[in-house]
Amino acid sequence: MARFLIKTFGCQFNELYSATIADALTRGGHRPSESLGEASLVIINTCAVREKAEEKAFSFLGEAAKLVGATRVVFMGCTATLDKERAVRIAGHGLNVVEGTADVGHVLAVVGTVVPLGELDCTAPQSLFPTADIELVRGCESCCTYCIVPRARGPEVVVEVGEVLHRAERAIGSGFAELLFLGQNINRYRSSLGGLIEVMCSVNELEGNFWFWFLSSHPANFTPDEVRRLMELRHIEHRLHLPLQSGSDRILERMNRRHTVADYRRLAEPIRENADWTLTTDIIVGFPGETDDDFARTVDAVRGFRFDGVFLAKYSDRPGTPSSRMEDKVPPAIIDERHSFLLNIVRDLSEQSNQVLAGRSLDVLVLSAHAGGNAFGRSIDGRNVWFSCSDQVPGIGTFVSVAIDHGSREGLYGKRDN
Ligand code: SAH
Ligand code: SF4
Ligand code: F3S
Repeated sequence: MARFLIKTFGCQFNELYSATIADALTRGGHRPSESLGEASLVIINTCAVREKAEEKAFSFLGEAAKLVGATRVVFMGCTATLDKERAVRIAGHGLNVVEGTADVGHVLAVVGTVVPLGELDCTAPQSLFPTADIELVRGCESCCTYCIVPRARGPEVVVEVGEVLHRAERAIGSGFAELLFLGQNINRYRSSLGGLIEVMCSVNELEGNFWFWFLSSHPANFTPDEVRRLMELRHIEHRLHLPLQSGSDRILERMNRRHTVADYRRLAEPIRENADWTLTTDIIVGFPGETDDDFARTVDAVRGFRFDGVFLAKYSDRPGTPSSRMEDKVPPAIIDERHSFLLNIVRDLSEQSNQVLAGRSLDVLVLSAHAGGNAFGRSIDGRNVWFSCSDQVPGIGTFVSVAIDHGSREGLYGKRDN
């Protein structure tokens, strides 16, 4: 039996595929390994969204091929599609390469040629417990000019609503407490029942004690009315992740985002009017042609929307994307300077957002708990919560109420109060 090691880079799709593979391998009698030295099968699940992530994956591949042998390494995901040649140059010809556009069934078929697999269950991998990730749309056709995902993952493939509801029901029935629905631009979901809102309403009708949320929304395919309808659902988490990318309309247009800052404001309004909800975003600093004035608009937008969390990325040139051919690149030193300036603002905003919750009680999903009575979880509005329990230690995947004592940039600290 093999000792396997799965190294995962990138987004929630990669997490889902890695977890599904880990489950199938475990059912087949194989055991996970913590270190490359002990492993006899290595799976590297790659991300191409920024150069740094790619470089890390290639360097890990070199190490794995040396220690374990190329024939026992599976190189999968987005970088595997885009730069198979470099992977084979590094690892040698025996390397198993699976393209990023493949679904998990295809990946498992390849893994199964290296070691025997157990029974497949793509519904809700136990290794993701207590959160079941469920695909709605695979691939992306939104064509933001900086982004490699449409090339790496291919055109959109939609999972039919019956299958989505079946997976959701199975996950709840087998004890999952949280469902996370996935699509690169999930607002483009279409099925016989309707779009994203209709399928989320149907999920909300399912029996059981569960929370759900979804990633990622695209402002160009979302309406304020849809945001309001989602906010009324009983089982939905009180958080919206809505990437803005830039606070300058001129840059948004060059990014082909197909919306303005004013459009974004209309979508954010219902969230900002409700103190129980959080709003998080993605921002790219230093997109080609970004002037001091464009950057100042991004700073204003970040402050104005009072984001509870921001994933801040330095622009990274991705081969073959339209923005990689733009000539007015921002010098790396200026990107670094803008990035650290904005990072300080973002950190202050997160701190303020958490500090105002001192004295409140929040519903929390338990993610880990220790015998000593210390536990960790995530609040219904998506914050990290560290808390103590005076008597019984709560089970992973249960919901508890936590009285918040104080907040920091990283999250909240408190005591269980139910
Ligand atoms: N489909 C999702 C996630 C895309 S990748 C979405 O549209 O929100 C996650 C984030 O990585 C993006 O939102 C963007 O902020 C960032 N990103 C994508 N390409 C990038 C690039 N070339 N350089 C820097 N950041 C990038
Ligand atoms: Fe990339 Fe845009 Fe698609 Fe997101 S919506 S994956 S940023 S092309
Ligand atoms: Fe990265 Fe591919 Fe996901 S590029 S973000 S792993 S779709």
